[in-house]
Amino acid sequence: MTLQLRVYVPPHPLIQHWLGVARDASTPSPLFRSAMTELGRWLTYEAVREWLPTLDTTVETPLAPCPATFINPETPIAVIPILRAGLALLDGAQSLLPLASVYHLGLVRNEETLEASCYLNKLPDQFAPQTRVLIPEPMLATGGSTLMAMAELVKRGIDPTFVRIVCVVAAPPALQKLSVAYPGLNIYSAAIDEGLNDRGYIVPGLGDAGDRTFGT
Ligand code: URA
Repeated sequence: MTLQLRVYVPPHPLIQHWLGVARDASTPSPLFRSAMTELGRWLTYEAVREWLPTLDTTVETPLAPCPATFINPETPIAVIPILRAGLALLDGAQSLLPLASVYHLGLVRNEETLEASCYLNKLPDQFAPQTRVLIPEPMLATGGSTLMAMAELVKRGIDPTFVRIVCVVAAPPALQKLSVAYPGLNIYSAAIDEGLNDRGYIVPGLGDAGDRTFGT
């Protein structure tokens, strides 16, 4: 089977609404944070479809036995927000995956070279087999941070086909690099924008997601 990068842009009115709020330069920081939380929630809702392992069983309703399907509690789920901006999507993701383990990965990009470097790595040495990984990373611009995060995960035993990236805006340079390096990856994005400006920002994008989230 040939693997191919899948980028899914859910045609959902709530996602479109909160994307519009986040894009608007006049949105103040508290409302921007709410928009990112909602985007994290609804994009995660889409991303876990056919990804969360389930268990078929039977329950007794007050009237009769009935087939039931539950999330399999045995399969480990990891949420790995890419700091800083990934934190903005975390609350929404965690509201749907309350039992997931959260491992923080702090990556910063050099504003001149646009190269990513790691300043915080709370990943375990090795992940359990079959671990599902959700990566909240709002802006897929050059792809540098995501490539670095993926390399750290694969080193620790993660199968890229078990990874879902939840992002708000994706740009072609990042998608192109990821499709070459990790063709089995699945990305859930509120939008795919035209490209990058000469400072590596997505255009039209929504600006600096970290600054707008944290009011810096
Ligand atoms: N990071 C951001 O926060 N915004 C961009 O447009 C690109 C990278």
